Amino acid sequence: MGGHGRAMRLTATAPGRVNLIGDHVDYAGGFVLPVAVDLATTVTGERGGDEVVLTSASEAEQAVVPIDVEDPAAIRPGWARYVAGVVAELRPREGFVGEVRSTLPAGAGLSSSAALEVAVALALGAPAEDPVALARLCQQAEQRATGVPCGIMDQLTSAAGVARHALLIDCDSLTVEPVPVPDRAEIVVVHSGEERALASSAYGTRRAEVEVAEVEVGPLREAVVDELSTIADPVARRRARHVVTEIDRVRSAAAALASANLEWFGELMVASHASLRDDFAVSTPALDRLVDQLMATPGVWGARLTGAGFGGCVVAVCEPGAVDLGRFEQAWKVVASAGARLEMG
Ligand code: GLA
Repeated sequence: MGGHGRAMRLTATAPGRVNLIGDHVDYAGGFVLPVAVDLATTVTGERGGDEVVLTSASEAEQAVVPIDVEDPAAIRPGWARYVAGVVAELRPREGFVGEVRSTLPAGAGLSSSAALEVAVALALGAPAEDPVALARLCQQAEQRATGVPCGIMDQLTSAAGVARHALLIDCDSLTVEPVPVPDRAEIVVVHSGEERALASSAYGTRRAEVEVAEVEVGPLREAVVDELSTIADPVARRRARHVVTEIDRVRSAAAALASANLEWFGELMVASHASLRDDFAVSTPALDRLVDQLMATPGVWGARLTGAGFGGCVVAVCEPGAVDLGRFEQAWKVVASAGARLEMG
């Protein structure tokens, strides 16, 4: 094994994700209900050497990361920071030479960075059979690369996706329960056209506001709305109300999906958007307009902003063909797909 003979060619594939409901609750140990999508990032190449050298089909500059990299955030170009974050967390014994390809749009909010991290981690030898460990490693990598204190949803969805199922993830125990997506439900993602430029700082602020609330009332995943009136700061109180009500909506949404009650599911999506807009303040006028436009379209059961907000995408659940994707500059019909995998060859 290793050290002699020809290196083996490997292909690691990791999907992006879209969250159907349950945003800004993963870092509070709440429930989320995302799907891994049929848009993915692939890393192909061979292990060896003491650097990870990756060429990207969509980036001008390659990533060159020594396996003993110290400060991933300082690595350039920008996309190489994610590679460096994984290398720093995994500390592989040998490097890798290969290329990255992706069908995921970068910066759209479909977790292209999580997909890159998970694919790189598998290519470098992270354990594919333990999706939680893989996701934790990649979450750490993302935090180290970007300084954004992200939760685990994106990386765990990419690692643990199940074809034709959404994942009910308990972000406290990190258990994953697949919930079938009914055949008559189509999932559509529409980009607002706004890049999430300020997302990093605002994301950290929201997370800190949730922590302020938790200092006063304890873990929000165990709280009920009535207890929140004791929170002194009105902003923290509103943020907490989003978290508590969103966790409730996710539980209901999982039941609605499992019983194929798409009318109920859609109502919960719309309520989730209102809560993210009014209580959590992460929507934008463009996202609100898109949600309204989609909800006015016959055959659409529900629509809401998805992911961190501050721009990015809206997700809708609708009857097949109800949304004409051609009406939008960037829109995708996505299918719930399997999680990351590593193949020889
Ligand atoms: C980003 C983060 C996730 C999660 C969402 C909001 O995608 O990476 O951990 O917090 O925002 O739900």
